[in-house]
Amino acid sequence: MAADDDVSVGSASLAEEVRVNRAMWDERAPAHAASPDYHLAEFVADRSYLSDVVRFDLPRLGDVAGLRGVHLQCHLGTDTISLARLGARMSGLDFSEAAIAEARSLSQRCATPVDFVVGDVHDAADLLGHGAFDLVFTGIGALCWLPDIRRWAAVVVELLAPGGRLFLREGHPMLWALDDPAGQQLLRVEHPYFEQPQPTRWDEGGTYVETDVEFANTVSYEWNHGLGEVVSALLERGLVLTGLEEHDSIPWDGLPGLMVDAGGGEYRLADRPQRLAASYTLQARKPG
Ligand SMILES: C[S@@+](CC[C@H](N)C(=O)[O-])C[C@H]1O[C@@H](n2cnc3c(N)ncnc32)[C@H](O)[C@@H]1O
Repeated sequence: MAADDDVSVGSASLAEEVRVNRAMWDERAPAHAASPDYHLAEFVADRSYLSDVVRFDLPRLGDVAGLRGVHLQCHLGTDTISLARLGARMSGLDFSEAAIAEARSLSQRCATPVDFVVGDVHDAADLLGHGAFDLVFTGIGALCWLPDIRRWAAVVVELLAPGGRLFLREGHPMLWALDDPAGQQLLRVEHPYFEQPQPTRWDEGGTYVETDVEFANTVSYEWNHGLGEVVSALLERGLVLTGLEEHDSIPWDGLPGLMVDAGGGEYRLADRPQRLAASYTLQARKPG
């Protein structure tokens, strides 16, 4: 976040907050598709091209060939298509019609079939099938748009077949609690770490990729979820935790001015990155 961005505690109704967030994403989807940072041209030019996000986690993902997979909050579908290229039979779900239109177009242009569906994540099992998936994949700026982590965990469990697994790589809640409000390269613990009923309201003109587009929908509402809250929500629903790794890097410039390009699409603190867990990869399994 930049020093001149506006941030406060939200006060709209949940339905209004979701509507505002969707308008923000609908406007950003075409700009993101046109940005070099999403590498859509590379997906089309090279049929073996994978997103940096999926490439980062290849050693943890293992063999996904033949799995029935769903990518929740798939945005432009770049990670969804990457998993399909690794042999999984993928569906992708997002509530932004504009994002799904871009994802469908990309899937067609790069000859990698994926079933892309418009819908709210909370309706995913009704839309895509209860117990229909061996793999639920999500993250990279997904959970912060959801007000209730326990409700999300219930959706994950509903989607998974017995023996199926959740694969989540997400921004670390500690990263999302930090800010440099005065733009002086001095981090403060500024925002909630734990889930709050009221979201944090942001008013930001920009986005996280390179673009010249000036956006009209600048307001959004976000909820943080502590790492323990995420793990507990999954355990309460009967999932078995099989992996939890914290990373000092994240696949976007999460603290502009304070992070450096670490290669492979990752960014980490320029100064002593060992001080901060910037993201995590969590894996859990539904008992068979
Ligand atoms: C930061 S993007 C996810 C980025 C994605 N992991 C990627 O790297 O392309 C967040 C996505 O969540 C979607 N989203 C937000 N709230 C949602 C909801 N309640 N149901 C479904 N999708 C939602 C947005 O439309 C947006 O495409």
